Amino acid sequence: MCGIVGYIGDNNVSEILLKGLDNLKYRGYDSAGIALFNNNQIEIYKSVGKLENLKNKMSKIVSETKDSLFGIGHIRWATHGVANEVNAHPHISSNKDIVVVHNGIIENYKELKENLIEKGYSFASQTDTEVIANLISDEYKYALNLKDAVRNALPKLKGAYAICVMCKNESDKFVVARKHAPLIIGVGNNENIVASDLPAIIAITSDVIYLNDEEIAVIKKDSVEIESVDGSLIPLKIVKISMEVDAVSKMGYKHYMLKEINEQPNIVRNLLNGRISDVNAKIKLDEIKIPLDILRNLSKIQIIACGTSLHAGLVGKYLIEDLASVPVEVEPASEYIYRNNTTDANSLVIAISQSGETADTLTAVRQAREKGAYIVVITNRPDSNITRYSDSILNVNAGIEVSVAATKSYTAQLLMLYLFAIYFAEVKGKSDDRISLIKEELLSIPTKMEEILSDDSNIESVADKLSKFKNFIYIGRGVNLPTAMEGALKLKEVSYINANAYPAGELKHGPIALLDEDVPIVSVLIPGYITYDKIIANCEEAKARNAKLITVTSSEDEKLKNLFDVIVKIPSVSDLLSPLLSVIPFQLFAYHISNFLGKDVDQPRNLAKSVTVE
Ligand code: AGP
Repeated sequence: MCGIVGYIGDNNVSEILLKGLDNLKYRGYDSAGIALFNNNQIEIYKSVGKLENLKNKMSKIVSETKDSLFGIGHIRWATHGVANEVNAHPHISSNKDIVVVHNGIIENYKELKENLIEKGYSFASQTDTEVIANLISDEYKYALNLKDAVRNALPKLKGAYAICVMCKNESDKFVVARKHAPLIIGVGNNENIVASDLPAIIAITSDVIYLNDEEIAVIKKDSVEIESVDGSLIPLKIVKISMEVDAVSKMGYKHYMLKEINEQPNIVRNLLNGRISDVNAKIKLDEIKIPLDILRNLSKIQIIACGTSLHAGLVGKYLIEDLASVPVEVEPASEYIYRNNTTDANSLVIAISQSGETADTLTAVRQAREKGAYIVVITNRPDSNITRYSDSILNVNAGIEVSVAATKSYTAQLLMLYLFAIYFAEVKGKSDDRISLIKEELLSIPTKMEEILSDDSNIESVADKLSKFKNFIYIGRGVNLPTAMEGALKLKEVSYINANAYPAGELKHGPIALLDEDVPIVSVLIPGYITYDKIIANCEEAKARNAKLITVTSSEDEKLKNLFDVIVKIPSVSDLLSPLLSVIPFQLFAYHISNFLGKDVDQPRNLAKSVTVE
């Protein structure tokens, strides 16, 4: 995933572009570049690595660039070609007339490239984007204006794109277009800005237009005009957004990840607000638009997602099967899309995606939609692509998550799955005292989360001590097996330490061979569930192989002190609701180890916030 931005107006263009890219850093961060329309020509500046490198480069030429009329910028997460200056955007056509930044993937770029080479165009980079620049340049020869050149080029592109395009002969505008990749236009007063996402826009204006697929917009200083690919004019639909400028600030925390971990109690509180007013009344989930008789008669649910969202889905399986007694299949979207799955017109598919832009999940949802399935989307971005294919959108409303490692969006997804499972159970006529107790306990979760967060110094000191280990094994059972998987993923992502997760009972079937004093075992231990004693037995087996034992537990059992080397206490909680709490120490543990090791916590190597390639 990459981030793009374009600005035209009287303010300092390069400053605004760099600030916009700064707020899109979570979308990619292996190289960056901007193109400025300055002195009647287009000047391009690029740097490899962090955006800071480009900022440093630009800071040395402030006086040369301060009068630029407009510009476009890009922050890259490499897909085609390594991260170097040649492959960094913006890309210029070989005729030197067209400059493009692009987010997305052009699937037929090789054919197009061969064609263009035959026509005499040349290529410097390995990217698919340079093909767009040359293609538009070729169309420009006939159209003689940028808008029509872009319009004529678009039908030739297969795949996904959001593009900003400048032309050296047109000094008053740039042109943007999109298909299956996000692009938002911010409409200001005598200035306009476009970007992949709102954080790059909110400092300029709160009036925005969400560009639709296959629409083209001509952006001038004092006007925005939108047309469809077939040339018909589209009325501007401006919406006011309420996002605060500090939605993307660290609010005094050292890293976004720590800030976002600490936001979890309030996110859960807000999600519960208005949905459970009386524990004996049915839960409110008005967003579900699927007819009740269809829901009542469902014989199966499929959940598709990737990464952390997949782990939330695995918790969802336990919840739905336990509370509503309907079988649930959970599958990585990347597997679901390449097999003959059983989705049909009677299926309910729940797709979970924080960003709503993950390519595998998007393809899965499109496929399920084509088969006529009902689609419920759980997302943090109700404005994202995935919601186009849904019948019902459950917005987890966690606020922008900047840190690449998902934390607050995970617990918000979990909360939504608890609400859905209860709602579904109630639709199926299963409301009883147990469900009332679960609702009551859900209301206590935000305070219990605050209790864990109020003193993370214990976890911080444990993290310091354990940061020397090179391998960890996380174990869990039942509803906390996904917690173990999520804990291991977090540690891998932000500290680059190998961590694998297993069902605790599987340890003895192979992984136990790995154990010695150098491989700590990290477990979740919640009293009250039938496997509590079994997990203790699994840990004892590990102890006998000299493994260090760390547990996250709500147990008050004094005997645990003799067995475990480190005990991280969480407040008393039922097993079913425990994933909402037990994951927090794991998030903090991964955060502190990463911070202690001096890793790039918010932007770990090789990762992007949302993976827009399959
Ligand atoms: C989480 O920490 C990861 N960054 C990653 O696994 C992520 O959850 C996955 O790529 C799915 O993203 P999505 O929820 O935006 O679809």
